[in-house]
Amino acid sequence: MVALNKKWVLNLLFIWVFARPILSIPIPARYDGFVFNPSSSTLPSVLVEAFIDPLCSDSADAWPVFKKVVQYYQDDLLLIVHPFPLPYHHNAFFACRALHIINKLNSSFTYPLLELFFDNQDSFSTSYTIQEAPSSVLKRIVQLAVDNFNELLPSEFESLFEAGFSDSRTDLATRISFKFGCSRVVVGTPYFFVNGIPLYDADSSWTFSQWADIIEPLLAQRS
Ligand SMILES: *[C@@H]1O[C@H](CO)[C@@H](O)[C@H](O)[C@H]1NC(C)=O
Repeated sequence: MVALNKKWVLNLLFIWVFARPILSIPIPARYDGFVFNPSSSTLPSVLVEAFIDPLCSDSADAWPVFKKVVQYYQDDLLLIVHPFPLPYHHNAFFACRALHIINKLNSSFTYPLLELFFDNQDSFSTSYTIQEAPSSVLKRIVQLAVDNFNELLPSEFESLFEAGFSDSRTDLATRISFKFGCSRVVVGTPYFFVNGIPLYDADSSWTFSQWADIIEPLLAQRS
């Protein structure tokens, strides 16, 4: 019995020592996610983080009201959206990667692209694309961005955007976004945190006044 316990302890020690470096999350050079209103000059009092899957219908449903809230409180509130690809939306990793790519090319197009995905979710859904090759889905994502942004971006935008999908750094950034969500125990989208605290019951049905009930008391406590 004692020998068995010893063996267990040694096994656990072995796992702890050797598995830890494999399981640890790479630390990104910058905090994960996309800042919605980077122009706010002073440090705002309320940090809201939203974990969003661009291909999740609940995320799309939540967005219009949530965006109004963020715009209304923009002087006192900083929003960071973390892309979080849900595994049951088969193209979500591509969509999140596209956000990382365009954020690197020109960050003012990150949120417009997110909204484009919201508007075109059906054509990237698992059921719609079940017979489609992944390379074709990627081409359509590039085309979607090109059709909507090309006039606003430099002529090489299409090739740069497409090349982003072969750049291992954008793959890693998207993986880190996913792992970051896992580390915060995110299990679905949209998932909200206010000043780091999870709002378990905030969902796509939340109204402006429900959000205001969370934010107003925090602003009132400022001294
Ligand atoms: C991003 O695109 C906008 C609109 O075309 C442009 O005004 C801005 O200068 C671009 N920013 C960068 C960093 O290229």
